Amino acid sequence: PKVTFIGSDDKQTQIEVPVGHSLMEAAIHANINGILGECGGSANCATCHVYVESGNLDALPEVGVVEEEMLDATSSERTEKSRLSCQLFMTEALDGLVVRLPPTQA
Ligand code: FES
Repeated sequence: PKVTFIGSDDKQTQIEVPVGHSLMEAAIHANINGILGECGGSANCATCHVYVESGNLDALPEVGVVEEEMLDATSSERTEKSRLSCQLFMTEALDGLVVRLPPTQA
């Protein structure tokens, strides 16, 4: 399954994300600018913040309790589209997801 990342400069990059991997891991592996992932994926840093733009939104997992708290600590403004990409694990149903990177993570 594939995910498209849109940078704050509007540059689009589509990458293959293996099922079971988080979007944060995949973005770092693919050298996508704008995802830091400082805590390594434990929903504890909010530097993997993304805005989910489009795709099969019904297939997204619910916002977790810890994620909910950390989303209040993002550097860029939180919106109703905000998620922590380390908490978004790839499934076949999420193929074609489009996420936008915030202007800053720190
Ligand atoms: Fe730290 Fe996602 S990588 S909250």
